[in-house]
Amino acid sequence: MPALVLLGAQWGDEGKGKATDLLGGSVDYVVRYQGGNNAGHTVVVGDQKYALHLLPSGILSPGCTPVIGNGVVVDPSVLLSELSGLNERGVDTSKLLLSGNAHIITPYNVTVDKVTERFLGKRKIGTTGRGIGPTYADKINRVGIRVQDLYDESILTQKVEAALDVKNQVLTKLYNRRAIAVDQVVEELLGYADKLAPYVSDTVLVLNQALEDDKVVLFEGGQGTLLDIDHGTYPFVTSSNPTAGGACTGAGVGPTKISRVIGILKAYTTRVGAGPFPTELFDEDGEALRRIGGERGVTTGRDRRCGWFDAVIARYATRVNGLTDFFLTKLDVLTGWEQIPVCVAYEIDGKRVEELPYSQTDFHHAKPVYEMLPGWSEDISKAKSFSDLPKNAQAYVKALEEMSGAPISAIGVGPGRDETIEINSFL
Ligand code: GDP
Ligand code: IMO
Ligand code: MG
Repeated sequence: MPALVLLGAQWGDEGKGKATDLLGGSVDYVVRYQGGNNAGHTVVVGDQKYALHLLPSGILSPGCTPVIGNGVVVDPSVLLSELSGLNERGVDTSKLLLSGNAHIITPYNVTVDKVTERFLGKRKIGTTGRGIGPTYADKINRVGIRVQDLYDESILTQKVEAALDVKNQVLTKLYNRRAIAVDQVVEELLGYADKLAPYVSDTVLVLNQALEDDKVVLFEGGQGTLLDIDHGTYPFVTSSNPTAGGACTGAGVGPTKISRVIGILKAYTTRVGAGPFPTELFDEDGEALRRIGGERGVTTGRDRRCGWFDAVIARYATRVNGLTDFFLTKLDVLTGWEQIPVCVAYEIDGKRVEELPYSQTDFHHAKPVYEMLPGWSEDISKAKSFSDLPKNAQAYVKALEEMSGAPISAIGVGPGRDETIEINSFL
């Protein structure tokens, strides 16, 4: 019963979509377990490029059943337009399974996300504005709307009333906005019911039965370890658990079933939105990483903040996720630098610190301690095996592996499916 978790080891956008798609051909189910359409996962197949937000990247592999688990928050209009967009491009999406327990991002959750950010002013998180935080807040406050509620009009109406009761007071009295009408929301949501019905199922039962039948299940995380609500750089985080434990709660599969946890790790670091980032670059190197790496958000089109590789973060990701492997991505982007700085520790208030500080204040004060590794200038995008890489690129990978605490089992040398060096098999 191989069950693999694949997740971001940094601040998101590590290349999870590509890695998931690569494994998609050999697995039976790919499951999203948290987050929503704040995610933007790019998959390149031949000359075709796909940007997926809510759908698991396994949707592009014909033999694979894509699943949206109970831990995901679903904007029905986004889901339906993503499905029809893929159908127009000839992708069969009929196998999709959608958990009836997944929470729905309602139009008022999107409104609340936007007005809250506006009112936070300088202290804003820089959210994607997709209603993610407010929808998870409603879930925790027990006033959320679930997919299954679309099939009981009376319950749906009562729940929307309960959710809007306080929100309308806040919107009108605090934020100076118009109140949102219950009927309108109910009507809009009911309009999605029939279109979503073919996909709705008891995904917990399906996945556990699949594991009993020895099927291979891959859990695809959105966002990344440092954006985790519990283990990330709070409050500059997303509102769910992208870390490995989130796969269990977000899909209803017990921890004893998970056999492998793969951390997707970029050969340098990026971040979108606000919050601390010790190795961030504000110079030409940062600009070059952004340009060569194409570091622009798939969801919001924002430029990503760029910096050197941070081994402290990678070690932390190994620990909080119990990583068994790393998939190192975008090594090709580093081609051409004479020397590549790698952050091996932090200096905080004059002291050298080897591990991620738990204190937010300390993390904000952390200065990177760099070690310089020799670079390479040869094109590595055609490399098929580790030995095809130039000596210095091999040494860079080995150094990262040693500092990060888990074996690097695959290396990305380009965005395409085949632009990957496989070192240890994942299955
Ligand atoms: P995700 O959110 O983790 O799925 O990552 P994104 O798709 O947001 O960002 C990763 C970007 O890097 C995408 O444009 C990918 O096509 C691209 N990419 C992934 N792996 C590699 C790689 O090894 N080399 C290069 N050059 N690009 C890659
Ligand atoms: P993928 O899956 C990078 C960031 C936002 C913001 C913070 C909170 O493509 O790696 P939210 O809208 O989630 O409440 O925003 O989290 N963020 C991401 N950054 N990649 C993502 O997803 C992200 N999803 C959210 O920029 O800083
Ligand atoms: Mg992304």
